[in-house]
Amino acid sequence: MLRIAVIGGDGIGPEVCAQGLRCLESLARIFPIDYRVTQLPYGGQRYLATGTVLTDQEVVDLKANYDAIYLGAVGRPDVPPGVLERGLLLRLRFELGLYVNLRPVKLYPGVSTPLAGKTSNDIDFIVVRENTEDLYCGAGGFLHKGTPHEVATQEMLATRMGVERCLRYAFELCRQRNRQRKLTLVGKTNVLTYVYDLWMRVFEQVGREYPDVTRQYHHVDACCMYMVVKPEQYDVIVTTNMFGDIITDLGAAIAGGMGVAASGNLNPTPHLGGGPSMFEPVHGSAPDIAGQGKANPIAAILSMAMLLQQTGRARSDDRLIRAGDRLEAAVARVCPQFAGMQFDRLPMTTDRVADLVLEELKR
Ligand code: IPM
Ligand code: MG
Repeated sequence: MLRIAVIGGDGIGPEVCAQGLRCLESLARIFPIDYRVTQLPYGGQRYLATGTVLTDQEVVDLKANYDAIYLGAVGRPDVPPGVLERGLLLRLRFELGLYVNLRPVKLYPGVSTPLAGKTSNDIDFIVVRENTEDLYCGAGGFLHKGTPHEVATQEMLATRMGVERCLRYAFELCRQRNRQRKLTLVGKTNVLTYVYDLWMRVFEQVGREYPDVTRQYHHVDACCMYMVVKPEQYDVIVTTNMFGDIITDLGAAIAGGMGVAASGNLNPTPHLGGGPSMFEPVHGSAPDIAGQGKANPIAAILSMAMLLQQTGRARSDDRLIRAGDRLEAAVARVCPQFAGMQFDRLPMTTDRVADLVLEELKR
């Protein structure tokens, strides 16, 4: 039994999740897969009605009773920035120990990229974003707030353990992918000389255990340039939380836009504690188009594919892996129908896009 908690969240979140769940339903009949979905009402609407973002008990419940979490989006214009992001999304990433944020940057054939002359052969890499430390740790504060002497600090944090577990995951992934077997560490060793010194030392040290994986280092600014002019040189990129946040939006843009980018917040070592992995489209809640049936559900559908593939791998359940692969392949076969279109603003409804994937799934 695969127990999935669904947090549709805000804006377009619930509508795109609904399409991913339609795909799951169809796959479950084909394979078959025994699953149970529980919709959880967490997000901006509940917060505005009750003042609760997420209780301690709800976190305990998520840890104890589910195998995976499927999340739409959080964030609303009428809730101050940070309340839902920190109180829900980041809290789950931290408390469930989801220390890897896996974000493929893959141009499916037929999807248009803004990069002239680049094809799906050139844009196919994956970013391993550290997901529990760095500037996201919430350390810092104000002094003399609101006065002319005001001071604000926001600290960057890296722990030896946190760096090492993330790097180990990245080296393993690089080996499993078995493409270029090249791992690029993205940092800023020339300015942030403490945090990236630690990363670099652990990168070299752990890397010695992986002589079959080539190590490369890029500063984050150079990486942004290379992602645009020479993306084909990347296989697996590993980076810190903040840089990973930024470069994966760029990654989404070169791979066809926010309509297509999927992600997995992973707990690769559940036997050491934490909770179930959480899968979500990279895009946000897009309140401007919410409720109009205009949102592209592909990113959410690909996140469902990742949920099945990753949960399958974690449980050595071949059927789940094959179901996830089948869903991803169906999306890849549907994409050429969108050739030349703006992927973020498809001229068809959310339902219709998912219908095309469902037709392909049954083939
Ligand atoms: C992302 C988002 C989040 C982040 C926000 C919503 C807190 O931008 O998942 O990339 O910064 O991690
Ligand atoms: Mg982001």
